[in-house]
Amino acid sequence: MKVAVLGFGTVGVGVYEMLRNARCLEAGPVLVRPGKDDAPFKVTSIEQIAEDPSVDAVAEVMGGIEPAFTYGAAVLRAGKHFVTSNKALVAAKGIELNAIARENGAAFLFSAACGGGVPFLHNLSIARETDEILSMGGILNGTTNYMLDAMQRLGLDYEDALKDAQRLGYAEADPTADVSGLDALRKIMLACAVAYDKLPAEGLLHEGIESITAADVAHFQARGYTCRLLAKGSRAGDSVSAYVEPVLLRAGAPECAVLENYNMASYLGQCSGSIVLMGQGAGRYPTASAVVRDLTCIQRGKKYMLEPGCAHTDADNSQVKHAYYVRLPAELAGELPAESAELDGDVVRMITKPISVSQMHFTAARVRSAEASIFFAAIGG
Ligand SMILES: NC(=O)c1ccc[n+]([C@@H]2O[C@H](COP(=O)([O-])OP(=O)(O)OC[C@H]3O[C@@H](n4cnc5c(N)ncnc54)[C@H](OP(=O)(O)O)[C@@H]3O)[C@@H](O)[C@H]2O)c1
Repeated sequence: MKVAVLGFGTVGVGVYEMLRNARCLEAGPVLVRPGKDDAPFKVTSIEQIAEDPSVDAVAEVMGGIEPAFTYGAAVLRAGKHFVTSNKALVAAKGIELNAIARENGAAFLFSAACGGGVPFLHNLSIARETDEILSMGGILNGTTNYMLDAMQRLGLDYEDALKDAQRLGYAEADPTADVSGLDALRKIMLACAVAYDKLPAEGLLHEGIESITAADVAHFQARGYTCRLLAKGSRAGDSVSAYVEPVLLRAGAPECAVLENYNMASYLGQCSGSIVLMGQGAGRYPTASAVVRDLTCIQRGKKYMLEPGCAHTDADNSQVKHAYYVRLPAELAGELPAESAELDGDVVRMITKPISVSQMHFTAARVRSAEASIFFAAIGG
């Protein structure tokens, strides 16, 4: 199978090298921007790929929604299989790409878009055929896991942890999608689409780690907790629950053993019980390995991760309830029902009574709209 590659950046170079070395795959043309075609295998227009009858499949590793969607649709309409590592593209346009692929008898797989090298979506798509997926999620963003781990084990403050993550290449120059939880939210959206045939809209319910301070870390570490940023998805009636938030875990929870920039994705099957997968969620070769794995899956007859009936839905996070650790200005403490509270200078650190995920996230948004600072983390998942 001859494979063209769209984009020649971090992941694209890795995919191309793996294709060059693969026994069962052949490297085809690589799409680059005009002026960057400094080698014979590089081309600068999508037509040179879509109209090339020798190309069987296309791997999109450019990023962004456009022109990735237009290019993906074009090659699928030309009957070529399409795989992508682009979570933003699949979260926004996955259902449309899946329909175009099915109309044209071409395959559409995207396992690198959720978990990087961790084969989470493949396992989920197989498990859902025979088992009921009760819940799923985990640590789906390596950048924030690195930062939280550095703050907790190395005692760094937020700014230094971010600088370290950028120096090591884990965080991008603009880290907003990672630290806000949006990147992890997009990944759990894809997992919901695979497991439940429902692709939730990009809702508001992603709380990242932007507001965590060294004082928060000291407070909950003194009480025996470790903080991780977790994505969670489950069924919620006819809809799904899907959200991302920091969670405080007791030592012994499997997530506490996930250090540095590793990912840990898991699902709870009614029959299988808990299945946990751990590995590198990002990086050139881990991500490229997942892209190339999709291509070999296509060769073995797997064409889709999304069922034809997969549809958009609004997430419903009103049914799941947790107690939360919350730090907020003392004068706003009445915003939440407290189980216990400690005054610490001009802030209150409280443990709430169990409240819904949506109540907690909406309260935090209200506090921030009053230009006040708040950090919260669910207790124990
Ligand atoms: N890096 C990871 O570890 C990782 C992990 C999982 C998933 N992903 C996903 O994989 C995708 C690629 O990530 P990356 O880290 O490889 O990004 P990257 O290093 O920025 O590479 C993207 C490449 O695509 C090129 N490109 C963008 N638009 C193009 C266009 N219209 N025509 C031709 N070339 C174009 C870029 O060129 P310019 O530099 O000239 O813009 C760049 O060379 C993203 O969707 C990302 O979310 C990445």
